[in-house]
Amino acid sequence: MRFLASPRLLTVGALRMQHRSFSPKFTIMASRLASTLSLKDPSLLKTQGFIDGQWVDSKSGGKITVTNPATNEELGTIPEMDVTETCVAIEAAGEAFKTWSRTTAKYRHDILKKLYELMQTHAEDLAQIITLENGKTLKEAQGENAYSASFVEWFAEEAVRTYGEHIPSPTANVRNVVIKQPIGVVSILTPWNFPSAMITRKLGAALAAGCTAVIKPPPETPFSALALLARRAGVPDGVVNAVTTQKNVNEVAKEMCMNKIVKKVSFTGSTPVAKLLYGMAASTLKKVSIEAGGNAPFIVFEDADITQAVEGAIASKFRQSGQTCVCANRIYVQSSVYAEFASRLADKVAAFKVGNGLDDKTTHGPLIHDRAVNKVASHVEDAVSKGAQVLVGGSRIEGPGYFFAPTVLSDVPAHALINDEETFGPVAALTKFDTEEEVIKLANNTDVGLAGYFYSRDVGRVWRVAEALEVGMVGTNTGMISQAMIPFGGVKESGLGREGGHGIGEYLNTKLIVFGM
Ligand code: SIN
Repeated sequence: MRFLASPRLLTVGALRMQHRSFSPKFTIMASRLASTLSLKDPSLLKTQGFIDGQWVDSKSGGKITVTNPATNEELGTIPEMDVTETCVAIEAAGEAFKTWSRTTAKYRHDILKKLYELMQTHAEDLAQIITLENGKTLKEAQGENAYSASFVEWFAEEAVRTYGEHIPSPTANVRNVVIKQPIGVVSILTPWNFPSAMITRKLGAALAAGCTAVIKPPPETPFSALALLARRAGVPDGVVNAVTTQKNVNEVAKEMCMNKIVKKVSFTGSTPVAKLLYGMAASTLKKVSIEAGGNAPFIVFEDADITQAVEGAIASKFRQSGQTCVCANRIYVQSSVYAEFASRLADKVAAFKVGNGLDDKTTHGPLIHDRAVNKVASHVEDAVSKGAQVLVGGSRIEGPGYFFAPTVLSDVPAHALINDEETFGPVAALTKFDTEEEVIKLANNTDVGLAGYFYSRDVGRVWRVAEALEVGMVGTNTGMISQAMIPFGGVKESGLGREGGHGIGEYLNTKLIVFGM
């Protein structure tokens, strides 16, 4: 297995020659997917990898089957690529960097703005693709496309603001100037829960900074990544590349983290995988941005507006059926308002309509696969075996599709698995507390620290608790924090660096130039 850039097995040109023709099988797969969708622009559907401006299959001819988690139906296939294609993509990105990094910030701004506009124009189609491969409702998918496009717009505007500085020198004939330069080729590895937005949050910043990229989208949801319209926006060949893989993910990820041409790795996903990638990137001291797992506490104090707190819990806990890194995972409610909060939350959750995200009556879609359903089921079983009560839901919904009934558990003991591990599913786990001091201790009793939420109308408490929570992001009197312009990221084992906001800095090197006169 190759970890570092090794002699190329294939040139980019040879790879193109080998893979450009569409096989009959490809045509059948593409049309099956197209017939499942009613796209205004069917050419958005791409079922090949994208390397150096070309749509390509894999050298091995292997395929990955992509299915709809709401129906288990096969949607189509993408190529099973390996380290060979990964190296070709990295080298293409390395070549493209030589010119892309020298373009003006205004030029990159204009291309990103064009991409943003294309994402608006094709919003309906892009949302359908997200729903079909991820399962989230069409409304959520439309929201994701808007969120995804907002990163492109935001970083278009950041591109022209990568200011340096002049630092006065204590020596008369010396001038100190600091400039910012793009880091280089960036490896981008993204999860299935936001098939589009987790890419643009990284890619938008990378392109704006003048970096080029190799993306590895997740095998569960590759079509949204491949539909991202970079080419139509005018991004030159080699600047953005996408390598698709499932079986060969370990070797592909190793190459993406250890190849010397790559200068930065940006990852969103689980903490265990983040640690592996971080270790590999350390071999060449690459810069890394990591957004890893969370275990968000959601605290309701007795002085909270309970209506608002219930709405916030629904938004935070059940967004995308609980499959986001910032979803509330542990809900702590002060004893005096516990019964009221629990019963109002349970009533709302009981009214959810679970089903296929394409059905407009559906409020909550499926989980991504059976492993996700099994994990949720094991957390519920564990909590119940330790004394928790099921107020609503509590069991899987038989297929087709990977469904678990939206669930509210009360009296979940502190030692339940669900309080220790991110569930990534539609289970609200309620625990009673008495004092502020006690709940802060409970909330911080975890190795991770991405987001935390609390509801209180006491301004002193709002400051105290916001400062005391060991997380990167706090929502106070709101369950929704995600926006393009905020510094998104965590502390402890939830990650390194910040995305969105001024996150373009994560893709820039700082260079000092000292001028003698
Ligand atoms: C994530 O789940 O990793 C991201 C969630 C968000 O951006 O809101």
